[in-house]
Amino acid sequence: MSKKTINIKSLKETKQFAESFAKEILDKPKCRSLVLALEGELGAGKTTFTQALGKEFGINKSILSPTFVISKRFPLKNKPFKNLYHIDVYRVGYEIGDMGLKDFMSEPNLLVIEWADKIRDILPKDTVWIKFEHGKEGTERKITINRR
Ligand SMILES: Nc1ncnc2c1ncn2[C@@H]1O[C@H](COP(=O)(O)OP(=O)(O)OP(=O)(O)O)[C@@H](O)[C@H]1O
Ligand SMILES: [Mg+2]
Repeated sequence: MSKKTINIKSLKETKQFAESFAKEILDKPKCRSLVLALEGELGAGKTTFTQALGKEFGINKSILSPTFVISKRFPLKNKPFKNLYHIDVYRVGYEIGDMGLKDFMSEPNLLVIEWADKIRDILPKDTVWIKFEHGKEGTERKITINRR
C-alpha cells in the first residue's frame, strides 16, 4: 500500500491535482479497467475532481453531479480506456452490483465512483482510493490517495 496526502488551499489546486493525476494514469498503457474510488462528505470536491479529470481525458461535455442518474458513460477517443464511467452510489449503495458494475469492469474502462466507501466490499483490490476532507478555511481540502 502506498499513501500520499496533499494539502490543498484553493479550488484551483484541486483541479491541478486532478489534471496531474489524469496525466499519470494516461501515461501508463492499460488493458484492464481501473477504479477510482472517491470518498468525502457533501461538497468535499468529488464531482469537481471528476470534472477536471474528465477534461484531461478529452471529454468536452460537461460532467454533472450524477446523484440523480447514478451512472453516466463518457466514450473516450485514443485513450488507454474505452469509456469513463462516472458513478454516484450515494443513494443506491450495494444495489450498484445489480446495476452492472461488473459489466463496466469487464472492459478496459475507467470508473470514477463517488461515495465509494458505501460499496467498499465489492470493489477490486487494486482500486485507487481518493479521500477528500474539508480544511479549516472554506477552500482548504486534504486529499489522501491510497493505492496498492
Ligand atoms: N479546494 C476545493 N476543492 C474542491 N471544491 C472546492 C474547493 N474549494 C471550494 N470548492 C467548492 O466546493 C464545492 C465542491 O462540490 P462538489 O460537487 O465537487 O462536491 P462533492 O464531493 O461531489 O459533493 P456531493 O457529495 O454532494 O456529490 C464546489 O462548489 C466547489 O466550487
Ligand atoms: Mg458529487
